[in-house]
Amino acid sequence: MDYDFVNVCRDELRLCGVHEGEAVAILSSDAAGELMGHAAAFMQAAKELGALPYHVRVPANRGAGGGAWEVGQTPLSGHPAAMAALSKEQLEIQASGTRVLLAVEPVDVLTRLLPTPELRERVEFAGELLSSAESLRIEHDNGTRLVYRLGRYPVITEYGYTDEPGRWDHWPSGFLFTGAYDDGVDGTMVLAPGSILYPFKSHIRTPITLRIEDGRIVDLSGELDAELMRNYMDQFHDPDGYAISHIGWGLNEKALWSGPMMDTRGIGQEGRSFYGNVLFATGPNQELGGKNASPCHLDIPLHGYSLYLDDRQIINAGDVVVNEMRPRQ
Ligand SMILES: [Fe+2]
Repeated sequence: MDYDFVNVCRDELRLCGVHEGEAVAILSSDAAGELMGHAAAFMQAAKELGALPYHVRVPANRGAGGGAWEVGQTPLSGHPAAMAALSKEQLEIQASGTRVLLAVEPVDVLTRLLPTPELRERVEFAGELLSSAESLRIEHDNGTRLVYRLGRYPVITEYGYTDEPGRWDHWPSGFLFTGAYDDGVDGTMVLAPGSILYPFKSHIRTPITLRIEDGRIVDLSGELDAELMRNYMDQFHDPDGYAISHIGWGLNEKALWSGPMMDTRGIGQEGRSFYGNVLFATGPNQELGGKNASPCHLDIPLHGYSLYLDDRQIINAGDVVVNEMRPRQ
């Protein structure tokens, strides 16, 4: 038993408001052998809080397209939020008021990125601003200018713990997102070197230019990285994979932009959360309540971009300029 990690899990469960006498179900997959230590640590931590933990182990569920994800080894694979939204059973569980927390990153990442109420406040403040915005614009001096028409879909915040009835969250995180109207994204997105491509878990080395009309990629060009991206997307033979998915930004100052260069065992929450990244994504919008259920999904945290809500600047070249979103010293 890794008692240092048990202590971290106990702090996490305290943040989640787990109390004496409360039932805590720990769900894992029979294929996720490397995560058995996580389950054991949560079990011990819940016991120490006087809660009533139990461990449920289910068979791995390999759905359509699941094999395309490098992490296609657990029923929680691929995009976790999307998988959560796809699971009718899970929605029923949440509707009953049960809080759900996903924790599948390596122990050292979870330990380093233990969330705080301060992070939550900043993410929730950002969520309020995003909720009231009618448009979002991304800019970069590499020729990027992409506009999202907002208002159709809800804003989802992830800050790494859940103490509200029925709430789903993912440890670690520290970002927020929404989606545009299905035909409401237009412009040019040039993916600059240094941006991260998930599920590849690698940084882009050569620019990729996307021309986007009515919420769809109509042209994808560039050199090696563009060819790799196209090669990945084409395997699905799915036009919906070329739609524009969720959009938001990261606020976790402890998450490292270089995270994917050091550790690729998890599903990449660190790279999606780093402070000041604009989290651009392509493919499905089902997790937001939309109809696009394409299995072809790329999350692309952008490094060094600017973001505006209704012409109010939120991020300037990767630096968050709204005081309430900046870490308190
Ligand atoms: Fe995503």
